[in-house]
Amino acid sequence: AKFSLDVSKSKKISTTLVGIFFEDLNYAADGGLYAELVQNRDFEYKISDTKGRDASWTSTKAWTLKGENATLTIDSIAPIHPNNPHYAKLSIAKVGAALVNEGFDGIVMKAGEKYDFSLFARIPEGKAGKLLVRLVDKNGTIYGETTTPNMTTNWRNYKSVITAKKSVVDAHLEIIPQTTATIHLDLISLFPQKTFKEHKNGLRADLAQTLADLQPKFMRFPGGCVAHGDGIANIYNWKNTIGPLEARTPMRNIWGYHQTVGLGYFEYFQFSEDMGAEPLPVIAAGVPCQNSSVGGPGQQGGIPMCDMDNYVQDILDLVEYANGAVTTKWGKKRAEAGHPKPFNLKYVGIGNEDLITDIFEERFTMIFKAMKEKHPEITVIGTVGPNFEGTDYQEGWDIASKLGVPMVDEHYYQSPAWFIYNQEYYDQYDRSKSKVYLGEYAAHLPGRPNNIETALAEALYLTSVERNGDVVSMASYAPLLAKDKHTQWNPDLIYFNNTEVRPTVGYEVQKLYGENAGDQYIPTEISLSNNQENVKNRIAISVVRDTKSNDLIVKMVNMLPVTVNASVALKDGNFGNSETIKTVLKGTPNDKNAKPVVSKGIATELNSVSLPAYSFTVYRINQS
Ligand code: AHR
Repeated sequence: AKFSLDVSKSKKISTTLVGIFFEDLNYAADGGLYAELVQNRDFEYKISDTKGRDASWTSTKAWTLKGENATLTIDSIAPIHPNNPHYAKLSIAKVGAALVNEGFDGIVMKAGEKYDFSLFARIPEGKAGKLLVRLVDKNGTIYGETTTPNMTTNWRNYKSVITAKKSVVDAHLEIIPQTTATIHLDLISLFPQKTFKEHKNGLRADLAQTLADLQPKFMRFPGGCVAHGDGIANIYNWKNTIGPLEARTPMRNIWGYHQTVGLGYFEYFQFSEDMGAEPLPVIAAGVPCQNSSVGGPGQQGGIPMCDMDNYVQDILDLVEYANGAVTTKWGKKRAEAGHPKPFNLKYVGIGNEDLITDIFEERFTMIFKAMKEKHPEITVIGTVGPNFEGTDYQEGWDIASKLGVPMVDEHYYQSPAWFIYNQEYYDQYDRSKSKVYLGEYAAHLPGRPNNIETALAEALYLTSVERNGDVVSMASYAPLLAKDKHTQWNPDLIYFNNTEVRPTVGYEVQKLYGENAGDQYIPTEISLSNNQENVKNRIAISVVRDTKSNDLIVKMVNMLPVTVNASVALKDGNFGNSETIKTVLKGTPNDKNAKPVVSKGIATELNSVSLPAYSFTVYRINQS
């Protein structure tokens, strides 16, 4: 293969091209990225979280009473906050019994590390008294403990630091009242102090770092399906997810479990900022998932029009929460949460894969017009509809064109062959229409693995996304995270459990794109000795320049089962002896464990370079 780079024809491309899409699916949030170690800390689990599928999913899920002379019930007569109505009521006739939490598949602690423990408690009946709190394993070994001061009649928030004496992967939390009384307990929480950037109410450091290592240029949140829910009552409401934890409103997760919303909008904004990524909240377009119940008897396909003014105001308020002065109503709330500076929100997504119905159009138009009028500085990203067999996105595009929506969100999960044979997808896009956010994509094979075949198909396709980086502004692989034993969707980018984080080969591709982003695209002529279609489509190149570092970046994908010898040259001039960093990811198609190999060299080697069978090669040429 011969690749000839025409620098004189370079064009500007998006500086936010490759980012991440976070959705609370597969236990990505509670039990995942959110570092809380106590499960069902708020006693708010409900069978309806699972749509009635799990009868054990009640207020006492993950909690048990150990020992005798005590009872555990759930009450809601006088909660700490009405948004969090349930609390545990422990009646202790004789000291000794313990309220036990199993954590999310156990509680992990590391020797010598500190943990923030906190709870709300009161003793409305009986003697005031202390609570002994400890972390133990099934053999009774104690890993850490603390004792609260006397709990009395009114709710009191007690906080303490517990240092782990030894490491443990399957500890339980025990709360042992030291008095015979009726004790009320709520929001029982344990966090490692070593969260990502050491924020309180923070994120699991290893998982968050793995995401930050992608160098994402933006982060979309909170979904996907989670954003628009499966009925209007299940639409994600950002206002329910900010402020003190006890005042947030937990909710049913569309994927069949519970959202504490401890990882809420403030935390999403903060995490985006920590990673240097543009925050990209996605808000429902006033309609739930595929308009959940369009036409269904007695059901609504969207928020009633009489409530839409309030709904629109909520979206305008979000902009104020993110960017407004601390003197504004919502900007003040951001400041109270510890972030007086604005989050510099630039993008808001409206809608996710919604069925393009009249119900959708009416509500989307209303939101879009209000945003345009009140916040012309914000780029609104619309949606072109669901990714069903037979849909062509046409109606979504028609609405976007009619209203002049600046960007639209497209999703597709397709076979590797689709990605191989559709590299021209964006070449033909009308540059005068909306720009594109490729919000969800992944190569799917039978059995849904994430392997070299799928990863290279994505790498290959991303060369065409970079080539079209003037019309495609953003792209994010989906989904991002999956916890072992709780994986509901495959493939994902990163698998994990309580102690391990396992990035996939697809992750390595995304990381190479994140680390090697450019802001100028340099067109390349390709000539192949064997110009057959099946050969041609399996070899791709994309060359970009990062004008900040002045580095030239050459990405080459070879999806053929044989080595391809290539020469890469500038049409006018040569690379000279510049230093290069070369990274190669290669393996057999089924390989799930390949890791990139990095080496240093000089640019002249690009005159004659071997692209191994099934490989992704990235050269970074320092031209300063
Ligand atoms: O990424 C998983 C799901 O796929 C998203 O929630 C939804 O938008 C899409 O259908």
